[in-house]
Amino acid sequence: MDKLVIRGGNALLGTVRISGAKNAALPCMAAALLTDEPVILENIPQVRDIETTRKLLAAMGAEVELGYGRAHHRTTICARTLASPEASYELVKTMRASTLVLGPLVARCGRAHVSLPGGCAIGARPIDLHIKGLERLGAMITQEHGYVEAITDPLKGDRLQGAEIVFDKITVTGTEDLLMAATLAEGETVMQNCAREPEVADLAALLNAMGAKIQGAGTSTIHVKGVSRLHGARHRIIPDRIEAGTFIVAGALTGGDLNVAGCNPAHLTAILQKLAETGVKTAVKADSVRVMGDQPLKAADLNTEEYPGFPTDMQAQYMALATQAAGTSIITENIFENRFMHAQELVRMGADIKIEGRRAIVRGGTALSAAAVLASDLRASASLVLAALVADGETIIDRVYHLDRGYEHIEEKLKAVGAEIRRVGDIFPKRAAAPART
Ligand code: UD1
Repeated sequence: MDKLVIRGGNALLGTVRISGAKNAALPCMAAALLTDEPVILENIPQVRDIETTRKLLAAMGAEVELGYGRAHHRTTICARTLASPEASYELVKTMRASTLVLGPLVARCGRAHVSLPGGCAIGARPIDLHIKGLERLGAMITQEHGYVEAITDPLKGDRLQGAEIVFDKITVTGTEDLLMAATLAEGETVMQNCAREPEVADLAALLNAMGAKIQGAGTSTIHVKGVSRLHGARHRIIPDRIEAGTFIVAGALTGGDLNVAGCNPAHLTAILQKLAETGVKTAVKADSVRVMGDQPLKAADLNTEEYPGFPTDMQAQYMALATQAAGTSIITENIFENRFMHAQELVRMGADIKIEGRRAIVRGGTALSAAAVLASDLRASASLVLAALVADGETIIDRVYHLDRGYEHIEEKLKAVGAEIRRVGDIFPKRAAAPART
């Protein structure tokens, strides 16, 4: 299993280029299931979750071509025929976002058979709101043997029917799943209390380019006029705001001078505002943020919220920063109930953090020292990388496959701006078993 070895102490200097947003790319790939024509997506990040989605779509019978490097991170997906509209547990369990195929499959094929995701490291993560919404659109749903089976009504021409949907709670992939389903429903759908994340708006831009009639994506009310078919399109994925935020924190934390290029600062407002409170200096241009870590950091409380609030996906990285800020920061996690697993690893590196339910109390200003630590989920891994960049000595981060799910070439990118980081295989390989006695 790969590990990252990081020697802390270097200020990050230079320019780092931000990749396409994984969380926009995943629903856009699922959207390709809605048409029998090719959908070409550009700026696709080269991360594990994209590869998982490729396998998922290919298993259904879609042709998926991934091109990297000179092909500009392009993928072409053609779901000409969908032999088996199913998503198996094997794939769904490694990536909960696989449930994004539920809406497109039932809308296009009249049937979907998708594994329930189950629990995960950061909380229960149910999909009840996806299911309720599909029922509102006229799908008949049964749950058996860990799978959801959704079918359309033959009496209604095997099409979903437009409806009014009010989400009980704001859900990002729930909004995306139902938005995709509604594009092919008969009649108009109005969705309220929708997620306003830029990734939802990006998906809607692709769907509209495919011939959908969507208005209001990116706001809390979305109107969709259903159409009978969608066609192929070409679309460029937005930059990854969480990757950008992670590098901005890295620049600030290491006392560096880092130009985070190819991002969309308009998507980073809450992050930049919070960092300004902690004393971080930034200079914002149209598509880049320069972070200058030459000021001492001071504590500031943080609440995670739905967009446009501070993203839960940046909470762990902010906690790494808070360990180095003067004073006490109270971090409240409002989106997921169990998203503080990085805290105990940061404590092992010398941080002073106490968890009280959904609140973490971080007493900053303690020196961090290198340790062997374990990544527990994608963003937790990022916070350990950040802590390691300022720790005294060589930190070994185990289970970096979590990091590989969502950060493209992170060690190359960090190395290019001055970090001392390397990836190794098993550092302590198991000794070969003694030959069996005969
Ligand atoms: C998406 C992001 C993830 C991010 C999260 C919150 C993708 C692929 N993933 O995840 O990186 O951390 O948004 O910004 O875009 N909920 C229910 N029932 C449902 C659906 C959700 O109760 O049917 C709850 C969840 O348990 C959670 C909250 O709603 O407490 C928000 O979850 P949601 O926005 O759905 O997260 P994801 O879309 O899974």
